[in-house]
Amino acid sequence: MRVQQLTGFGLSQLRSVDLPAPRPGPNEVLVKFEAASLNYRDHLMVEGRLYKGVPLPIVPISDGAGRVLAVGEKVSRFKPGDRVTTFYKSRWLGGRMRPEWEGADFGGPAPGVLQDEACFDAYSLALAPRHLDSLQAATLPIAALTAWQALEQAQLTSGQTLLVLGTGGVSLFALQLARLRGARVVVVSSSDEKLARAKALGAELGINYAKQPQWGAAVHEATGGVDAVVETAGAATLAQSLEAVGMHGFIGLIGFISGIDASFSLVQAILKRVRLQGISVASLEEHERMVRAIEAARLEPVIDRVFGFNEIPAAFEHLVAGRHFGKIGIDFSR
Ligand SMILES: NC(=O)c1ccc[n+]([C@@H]2O[C@H](COP(=O)([O-])OP(=O)(O)OC[C@H]3O[C@@H](n4cnc5c(N)ncnc54)[C@H](OP(=O)(O)O)[C@@H]3O)[C@@H](O)[C@H]2O)c1
Repeated sequence: MRVQQLTGFGLSQLRSVDLPAPRPGPNEVLVKFEAASLNYRDHLMVEGRLYKGVPLPIVPISDGAGRVLAVGEKVSRFKPGDRVTTFYKSRWLGGRMRPEWEGADFGGPAPGVLQDEACFDAYSLALAPRHLDSLQAATLPIAALTAWQALEQAQLTSGQTLLVLGTGGVSLFALQLARLRGARVVVVSSSDEKLARAKALGAELGINYAKQPQWGAAVHEATGGVDAVVETAGAATLAQSLEAVGMHGFIGLIGFISGIDASFSLVQAILKRVRLQGISVASLEEHERMVRAIEAARLEPVIDRVFGFNEIPAAFEHLVAGRHFGKIGIDFSR
């Protein structure tokens, strides 16, 4: 079976190898992967900017979906033929995260999904929503669950306003899930064309941050202060997010695309009584709640472009160029 391995850091170190098909242990599930999707963390991992000491070679890419081929004798969660996705924080089944559950993440340090077939523990997989194909389902494990968790933590309700930054995977899922809750959505993006597309998905207000770098006050003025922010950009935007948020607002700290070291006004955060909440994906329990909600609403993920199994470098180049709107997919049949 085909496996893509990273033998050293950098895309030039990606090698295609042929390995024997695995067999599931008693608590494992054998999955035939049909699709994957890229997350920004896959880029960081491939470039050696996450888990630098991870033993190589490693199979990259965290999120995938496919069909169950066989289950171990102790597995009752799945049966052959089920469509499943990976579940990223594979030891966090429910409740609060514990430090000792960190570090088992697919696509580094644990093996990822860029392989035709793989065996995983039954609790590191989840059923896919029934209305989605594998390409669509593969977009959910990290990006959708993070967006879902941010809205849950924010307790975003009908009539409230959410701000999302940019039009990448997490932000567009947050937009779509917020609309399901009856919330209003404000988007900032570097592109007028992407803002128009975000409005077609239900966003009410769009601001081009490339043209208007100090957008925080404008968002506050237009909305009276947003109730929640899905903060995916980090250093360059946290101060603006703090401007934009209203009294007792919520800022979900999720990403750091623009840098790690942020500086902002403590006085403003204190006087606004802001809740700053770090978010790192969520538990299997939350993932399964999200799948039920997505299925009930027949929500369709936004997929920007799809690449073939042997086009991984091009897919990553597309991600890094930042031209995408939503998710980037990998179709294993191409
Ligand atoms: N904590 C977690 O659990 C978790 C989970 C998933 C992702 N993340 C992190 O969240 C971030 C986003 O992930 P993603 O997968 O959604 O990435 P993505 O799909 O690559 O989206 C990135 C988008 O961010 C926008 N952006 C870049 N610089 C910006 C800026 N200065 N101001 C506003 N927007 C900006 C761009 O949108 P436009 O092109 O529209 O300008 C870009 O398309 C990454 O840092 C990732 O590592 C964290």
